[in-house]
Amino acid sequence: MDKILIRGGAPLEGTIKISGAKNAALPLMAACLLSDKPLILKNIPDLSDITSMTELLTQLGVGITLERNTDQQIMSLDAQNISSTTAPYEVVRKMRASVLVLGPLVARVGEAHVSLPGGCTIGVRPIDLHLKGLEALGAVITLADGYVHASAPHGLTGASFSFPVVSVTGTENLLMAATLAQGQTRLINAAREPEIADLANCLNEMGAKISGIGTDTLIIEGVKSLRGTTHHVIPDRIEAGTFAMAAAMTGGKLRLIGAELGHIPTVASLLEQAGVSLEQTKDSLIVTAPLGRLQGVDAMTEPFPGFATDLQAQWMALMSLAEGASMITETIWENRFMHVPELCRMGANITVHGASALVRGMKTLKGAPVMATDLRASVSLILAGLVATGETSISRVYHLDRGYERIEEKLRACGADIERVR
Ligand code: EPZ
Repeated sequence: MDKILIRGGAPLEGTIKISGAKNAALPLMAACLLSDKPLILKNIPDLSDITSMTELLTQLGVGITLERNTDQQIMSLDAQNISSTTAPYEVVRKMRASVLVLGPLVARVGEAHVSLPGGCTIGVRPIDLHLKGLEALGAVITLADGYVHASAPHGLTGASFSFPVVSVTGTENLLMAATLAQGQTRLINAAREPEIADLANCLNEMGAKISGIGTDTLIIEGVKSLRGTTHHVIPDRIEAGTFAMAAAMTGGKLRLIGAELGHIPTVASLLEQAGVSLEQTKDSLIVTAPLGRLQGVDAMTEPFPGFATDLQAQWMALMSLAEGASMITETIWENRFMHVPELCRMGANITVHGASALVRGMKTLKGAPVMATDLRASVSLILAGLVATGETSISRVYHLDRGYERIEEKLRACGADIERVR
């Protein structure tokens, strides 16, 4: 099992190219199922979740080729012949985003058999809204032997569906299904994350008729079929926010190529309140740490444009060093504080009360052996290790490889004393 070793103390200085967004690439890959023409995706990140989605789509009969250029990966997906409509438990349990094949399969071939995803470390993660939405579009849904069986032999019919809770992949599943439904679909209280706009733009390039992109009401006029296209995946805003916090914590300055303030508006505003300077240029975001200590600032996670839950653990690491205190409230996931005990082992002063954690800033953190538990918790431990005195060793780093492309290389190139040991 790989480990990452970090000897903290070096300010990060330099330039990092932000990779393509994992949470945009995954639904974009699933969208290939909607058409019998090839879909070409550029700026695909090199992540284990992308490999998992590639395995699943290949099992469904999609022909996938991946070209690795010097500066990006280009993936070509050909779903002309769908030979299976089953997403098996062995794959779905590894990656919950597998549920994104459900909507496109039902819309394209009239049926899908997708394993229920099972639990996940950050929460129960139900998919009831995905299913209720597909039923609203006319699909017949049954649950048997741990699988969702969805059927629409005569195609889907446009309808209005209002999400009682904002759901990112729920919105993506229904958006994709609605592109081939007969008539108009209205998705109300839809998620507004930039990854959804990226998917909608790609679907429109494929011939879909989607309006309201970027708002909480998406209107889709169904079409008979979709063509292929070539689409460039947007940069990963969670990676960008993570490295911005790394610069802030280490007292450094980073230029993040591809990062866009508009993709993390609330995180950016809180970073500035904490004393961090952010400058958006045409193609980059320049992040400069404050001269003095960071200031404690409260944060509450919310759907976009609110504070991204996928940056909560990283924010907690940042606030562990701030002057004063920060109350951090997690409103999206019921169990997303697994990083707290690990940060406390490094000397952080954090008290959890239900969905809130009170962080009292310390002047320093101390290196220690710690364990990654989920994707974003593991990167918060890297951030803490970058500033801690002494050595931090992080085990179970396979969690990291799901969402961060070559993170130790990117950080080492900016002065971090970090290495991966087999
Ligand atoms: C997406 O997960 C992201 N994953 C998550 O990122 C992210 O944390 C989450 O959105 C919130 O922003 C991908 O995009 C692949 P939700 P998703 O449906 O779609 C409840 C990462 O680190 N809900 O928006 O699964 C749910 O319990 C991952 O990259 C239902 O009740 O999240 C949660 O409380 C982790 N019923 C809330 O909605 C449903 O049918 C938001 O979940 C669906 C969701």
